[in-house]
Amino acid sequence: MDIVVCMGEGADRDEAQSLASSLGAPFCDEPGDGLALRVDGGGLSLVGYGLEYRGDFEQMIRRIEKGRLYHEMLVHVAKPGTDGAKAIDAAAGMGEDALLLAACGCEVTMYEKNVVIAALLRDAMRRAEKNAFLCDIIGRMRLIEGDSVELMQTTDEKVDLVYLDPMFPKRKKSGLINKKLQLIQKLEQPCGDEKAMLDSAIAKHPKKIVIKRPLKGGYFAGVKPSYTVKGKAIRYDCIAMP
Ligand SMILES: C[S@@+](CC[C@H](N)C(=O)[O-])C[C@H]1O[C@@H](n2cnc3c(N)ncnc32)[C@H](O)[C@@H]1O
Repeated sequence: MDIVVCMGEGADRDEAQSLASSLGAPFCDEPGDGLALRVDGGGLSLVGYGLEYRGDFEQMIRRIEKGRLYHEMLVHVAKPGTDGAKAIDAAAGMGEDALLLAACGCEVTMYEKNVVIAALLRDAMRRAEKNAFLCDIIGRMRLIEGDSVELMQTTDEKVDLVYLDPMFPKRKKSGLINKKLQLIQKLEQPCGDEKAMLDSAIAKHPKKIVIKRPLKGGYFAGVKPSYTVKGKAIRYDCIAMP
């Protein structure tokens, strides 16, 4: 993977070097022209192309405070039900959707196959654990690095919900998407095998599979959902399982 690990202000050199070696990435004092993971006193960020992104769950607090959470479209669609419902987020990314599910009381297993994104997410979770409001919620989120298509087949843990939000097909006008996705799209390609991902999700026998799609995109893996809930820019396709 074409990424370097570099140091920013307040960085611990040993920590930065050990991250570089765990990712198999070159270690540099300064970021180069491409993508870099920067370690500094505030944690880990992805930098490059004049953009900078650091996961920050504290920014989501206003969305999950009482009263607001249930206005979130994903929460409304997923209806995770009782506390302790089990969910899989098979394409965790920066874990923001997983946080919404965990804030409803779900125990969420997150799978992330991109080692750089997983490192950014782990770092964001580590910082959020120190926040009194977020720590219990983060405690219900478990990150497993690897390919969910394979990992969903290797565990027989029963789940109520599988959530799928792999990368959408690329848009021509990247200015329309936010910084997080612009940088993350440089690391990750749109889902290559939609059928394999959906088959693995179905094999878990959840009560429901929820798939985030572009508003006007085709069905995931070409499979017609049981029903669809549309927002302004995206929609959720839901497969209710017997
Ligand atoms: C659009 S992002 C998910 C954003 C996420 N819902 C959020 O709230 O931040 C898609 C992520 O899914 C990951 N991904 C795609 N296919 C995967 C797979 N088979 N297993 C694990 N992660 C996968 C990508 O690496 C990428 O980070």
